Amino acid sequence: MTGIIVHGGAGSWTKAEPPEALPPLEKAAKAGWQILNSGGSALDAVEAATILLEDHPLYDAGYGSYLTEQGEVELDAIIGDGTTLNFGAVAGVKHVKNPIRLARGILEHSDHNFFIGDGAEDIARRLGIELISNLLLVSDREFSRFEKRYEQTVYGTVGAIALDNDGRLAVATSTGGTRLKPRGRVGDSPVWGAGAYVNQVAAAGATGKGEQIMRVLLSQRAVDFVEEGQPASQAAKSAIANMLDLLPGAEAGLIMMDRHGNYGAAYSTQAMPVAWVDGDGIVHTAMNPDFSAV
Ligand code: GLY
Repeated sequence: MTGIIVHGGAGSWTKAEPPEALPPLEKAAKAGWQILNSGGSALDAVEAATILLEDHPLYDAGYGSYLTEQGEVELDAIIGDGTTLNFGAVAGVKHVKNPIRLARGILEHSDHNFFIGDGAEDIARRLGIELISNLLLVSDREFSRFEKRYEQTVYGTVGAIALDNDGRLAVATSTGGTRLKPRGRVGDSPVWGAGAYVNQVAAAGATGKGEQIMRVLLSQRAVDFVEEGQPASQAAKSAIANMLDLLPGAEAGLIMMDRHGNYGAAYSTQAMPVAWVDGDGIVHTAMNPDFSAV
């Protein structure tokens, strides 16, 4: 049994670009699925799917990310392996095209888990990952929105969870953070337990307002609910409901998968575009996913 689910960020997508949101997710889920189907690992699948979404200008990750108050792109990413509980994470990276690749390098090659800014970019150099000008991460669309001080309607963070043929779960999350964030601000995405968490039982990845997600350790909480016996579809909803009890009005979404390949998704925003592959290898997409109905 293998599976993969990807998301493109929780938010008010109906005010933004709903028709555009799903096809790149479908492509990313398919790419990850092909890796799993040819015997690749869950880590390879989530990394490949996330790279496709980082490279797509629509989402707030990699190229086309939201700009800081100062007009730069600052990227955060995390990738985790449920079997070993190991993860690699980076924050405040400004010169790496695919921060999820750097996070994977840290997971595989470092004794440490989490690097920021220049230190993370030193590791990139050591791993042979090219450093590029920050301008190459800025899309025309985001630059014009920056000039107009465009309002935040979507947390366009991307994420992926996969289960491979060896029963290993992996999770990846990548983001440019919130629109017009002050430089140096880091949200939930690269924080283990907040933006992503995975163990041998289940995996969860979050999107939304990082300050709120970190306060409740949203991804860890969702996995806890699976460990307490809830199906993944319910655990995602329970974690969002728990967040709203503690922080009324909080804006966040979650994707989940358990070790049997059951999916979950929940969000407190208007929508959260996702794509996933079912047991027959068929890719599905939804702006308003609900796996309790699947
Ligand atoms: N969830 C992305 C962020 O707050 O940075």
